[in-house]
Amino acid sequence: MDKGIIKLAPSILAADFAHLGKQVGEAEQAGADRIHVDVMDGHFVPNLSMGAPIVQSLRRATRLPLETHLMISDPDFFLEEFVEAGSDSLLIHWEGNNNLHRTIQRVKALGKRVGVVINPATPASVLEEILQDVDQVLVMTVNPGFGAQHFIHTTLPKIRRVREMIDEIKPGCDLEVDGGIDATTAPLTVDAGANVLVAGSAIFGASEGVAAAMKRLGAGANQKKM
Ligand code: DX5
Ligand code: ZN
Repeated sequence: MDKGIIKLAPSILAADFAHLGKQVGEAEQAGADRIHVDVMDGHFVPNLSMGAPIVQSLRRATRLPLETHLMISDPDFFLEEFVEAGSDSLLIHWEGNNNLHRTIQRVKALGKRVGVVINPATPASVLEEILQDVDQVLVMTVNPGFGAQHFIHTTLPKIRRVREMIDEIKPGCDLEVDGGIDATTAPLTVDAGANVLVAGSAIFGASEGVAAAMKRLGAGANQKKM
């Protein structure tokens, strides 16, 4: 990838919720491209996180696009609610969705950007028939459900395959990665073809503060390829 085109999507899962607006404001100031909101239902993934009221509050706190990563069973039940709350894009998992095409069409009908998400064990090939309908692919680089997990290195060849598919089928589609992204793993994913990096603990969990952490991550992401 060329230098300077890597976008950062801070994940608020790792933020201090008592100071959410302030932390998101710091991320915005430091050049975040969008804010990543992780929604978990304790069923699709073994953890609970947040729902539409958080999106609604964030909508008033930032001008950045809010992307909502739906780690929930039956996402169709909640699409309107998140859109009304202020989500700009909805990321839908391939896993467990028997009617993914329909879900994607519903998001598009609501006038929002739509992405499809695949877990570490899901092959890139499942994207082939749906890629032309989406704005974004999110390749999970950890199993979804928790922040601060270790990056799974075997996802790298898959990121390369997805990049090839995007270049062939849907140039311009974002290729995002999520999980265990830090200054060390970021350049590996960029080298494989990712252009949007989600990071939670590497940004909001960093002792150096949000701005310094984003600077370090951005520098790592844009490191020149050998
Ligand atoms: C994991 C979530 C991630 C999470 C990433 O299920 O989808 O967005 O916040 O956290 P880090 O960057 O700490 O791995
Ligand atoms: Zn996420």
